[in-house]
Amino acid sequence: MDLTVSRKQLEFIQATSGEVLFGGAAGGGKSYGQLLDAMLYALKYPNSKQLILRRTFPDLERSLILVSLSLFPRDLYQYNSSTHRGRWSNGSIIEFGYCDSEKDVYRYQGAEYDTIRFDELTHFSEDMYIYLISRLRGANDYPKQIKSSTNPGGVGHMWVKSRFIDIGPAGEEYRSPNGTRMFIPSKVQDNKFLLEKDPGYIKRLENLSEKDKKALLYGDWDIFDGQYFSEFDRAVHVMKPFQIPSGWKRYRALDYGLDMLACYWIAVDTYGRAYVYKELYQSNLIISAAAQAISRMTDESVYQTMAPPDLWNRRQDTGKSVFDLFRENGIYLTKASNDRVQGWYNLHEWLKPFTDELGERIAGLRIFDNCVNLIRCLPMIQYDSKNPNDCATEPHEITHACDAIRYFVAGRPSPAVASLPTEDDEISYEEQLTSFMGFGR
Ligand SMILES: Nc1ncnc2c1ncn2[C@@H]1O[C@H](COP(=O)(O)OP(=O)(O)OP(=O)(O)O)[C@@H](O)[C@H]1O
Ligand SMILES: [Mg+2]
Repeated sequence: MDLTVSRKQLEFIQATSGEVLFGGAAGGGKSYGQLLDAMLYALKYPNSKQLILRRTFPDLERSLILVSLSLFPRDLYQYNSSTHRGRWSNGSIIEFGYCDSEKDVYRYQGAEYDTIRFDELTHFSEDMYIYLISRLRGANDYPKQIKSSTNPGGVGHMWVKSRFIDIGPAGEEYRSPNGTRMFIPSKVQDNKFLLEKDPGYIKRLENLSEKDKKALLYGDWDIFDGQYFSEFDRAVHVMKPFQIPSGWKRYRALDYGLDMLACYWIAVDTYGRAYVYKELYQSNLIISAAAQAISRMTDESVYQTMAPPDLWNRRQDTGKSVFDLFRENGIYLTKASNDRVQGWYNLHEWLKPFTDELGERIAGLRIFDNCVNLIRCLPMIQYDSKNPNDCATEPHEITHACDAIRYFVAGRPSPAVASLPTEDDEISYEEQLTSFMGFGR
């Protein structure tokens, strides 16, 4: 048998996390990857049992069952179309299943599987997923895994995003108390089989609406109607951490409340471009504990710590403000402007993608991939339905990280418009930029 796999399919096949999601652009080879993986598993582990699910039976029949019949070798595999089960010559079984409604999951009550696979996971609800993964068990020592594949979009978009995408960098294993998870992003470009057979495919995706194009062509998870920072693009705004040169100026920006402390450490390079490189995101910290948590995470010298003006309000009982209490605990805050609309406009400027001197698409403000809450919240925040220039303040939890960054950029024009230094003015450039950006001493 002559099989070739793409690099991403191989990653998916080799992934050992308890839950794995292969997710992204349409045509990335995800469903085919599932079937290849199912076949290899069945052959490697005799008498193993696998369940492959789609949301409806017609979907299943049209895609996975049809492809599996041409992919799985007939001398080793026999499919029974009335039970929707395929049996391998070594006793392994692959069952094709579906769940039309929430109640359908009980059809699998009592069943047990070594591996469960969901294709188009965002078509399922989280409750269905959680129930079905409880069917993963068996009295053997075969690896037990849930392997899913999907495009962004669909009813389950948000829960799938928070379960697999918001947890941290793609391709890295995430450990939760309930086990390990991993997200493997897929792009159309990864699938040379399709691009060779159908070179017009990408062109056709390009004709889709902006939103569908983002989901299906770019495999972008940060999509939904009403999104305030629609320019947010992980490929542009999120980056792998690097060692920050000691000469770059460091800032902190925070939003504080008992419900959440969101504090960010930001470095500014010699072009005036900002890098959000550290995150502290924690609820239920009283002021002294918040200040101590910030101090514990700071071993660099920080030029300013930007904070919203309401932290200067004095409390009636003590006569002290949050500012006073932070100061008593060693953190000196600098008052940022709280003009919301102006602040969001500034942030739009900072996030605007542009091409840098090396031909790379970047933005004035970029975020290290360890700042997971900021990366989760920025694309989630929505327009305010009453004031289209402002962001909605609900759901409240997603506003803290965005507000903190807004306090950093408030009143600072983005460096994207600043010209690059030439040899002649290199010496004075930093000075010019410092005053231009309002970072003056
Ligand atoms: N390793 C491979 N060898 C040969 N053909 C492949 C391989 N991987 C994918 N293909 C082909 O590429 C096409 C797209 O693959 P597939 O259907 O798996 O993509 P997908 O990511 O599931 O797409 P969608 O998001 O639309 O469901 C199919 O025609 C499939 O047969
Ligand atoms: Mg598919």
